[in-house]
Amino acid sequence: MGRQALKKFAKMVRTGEVVEGSGEYRLGIDLGTANIVLSVVDGSNNPVAGAWRHSTVVRDGIVVDWLGAVRAVQELKEELTTSTGHAFDRAAFTIPPGIDEATVKVFANVVQAADLEVDEVVDEPVAAATALGITDGTIIDVGHGTTGVSLLNDGKVTLSIDEPTGGHHMTLVIAGAMGVDYEEAEKFKKTAKNANIAGPLVRPTLEKMATIAARALEGRDPGTITLVGGAASLPNATGVFSQVLGHPVECPAEPLFPTPLGVAMRRP
Ligand SMILES: Nc1ncnc2c1ncn2[C@@H]1O[C@H](COP(=O)(O)OP(=O)(O)OP(=O)(O)O)[C@@H](O)[C@H]1O
Ligand SMILES: [Mg+2]
Repeated sequence: MGRQALKKFAKMVRTGEVVEGSGEYRLGIDLGTANIVLSVVDGSNNPVAGAWRHSTVVRDGIVVDWLGAVRAVQELKEELTTSTGHAFDRAAFTIPPGIDEATVKVFANVVQAADLEVDEVVDEPVAAATALGITDGTIIDVGHGTTGVSLLNDGKVTLSIDEPTGGHHMTLVIAGAMGVDYEEAEKFKKTAKNANIAGPLVRPTLEKMATIAARALEGRDPGTITLVGGAASLPNATGVFSQVLGHPVECPAEPLFPTPLGVAMRRP
């Protein structure tokens, strides 16, 4: 497993490519603030297919548009049914760690309303760690809405915080600095050739995120620190985090995809 599978899965999501797997397929659902991603793995946890949609149905771990969420999951599921030739009647889904039972139920209701039984409820950092073949250490997830910091021990979350600074705030900074609207700033940020301008502009936001992580980890042994989440895609993200944390930080290529890939995978 690990980095190669992650790259393959990222390509599947971006291009719609599907491969033939063996054994029992498993479906996973990652409902995020910016993206809803569905994944399919085969009986040996190899990625088979993926599908995604930009979405605003979840905000900071809360489903704010229930019908929109159900519709998106249903449509992505149908897309994958067609592309893989496989019918799915169950799915695993992610939750931000530490959310209350009632909120977990709302996520479960979305899955069930899309005609899927709940296979497994997976903490986001556990999903990411599974895709990366990690069971211990720190996972820092910089998404669109929030920065999450989780300590894992033996594959279980032993500490977790989530604070509202993410890619959304980077986009606001870029929009303000360049005098462009939000959508344009978001596009600018995600275009690789703009990284030499976007990187320095969002450096203070990255430092804020890294400071959130430093506070969460104060007085603890972080083990290996791994950065995931779409906002870690900027080339200077890893450097800023390791500087502020005073600790080496690893970031896989395609940091947006460990969580959605890992949710479908069977845990060790
Ligand atoms: N190439 C890129 N460069 C910079 N930022 C990027 C890039 N690709 C995606 N992003 C940013 O990553 C964020 C989305 O990441 P991700 O899908 O991990 O978030 P999410 O899971 O939807 O949000 P959250 O975890 O906060 O609920 C967005 O802010 C998006 O702009
Ligand atoms: Mg996320």
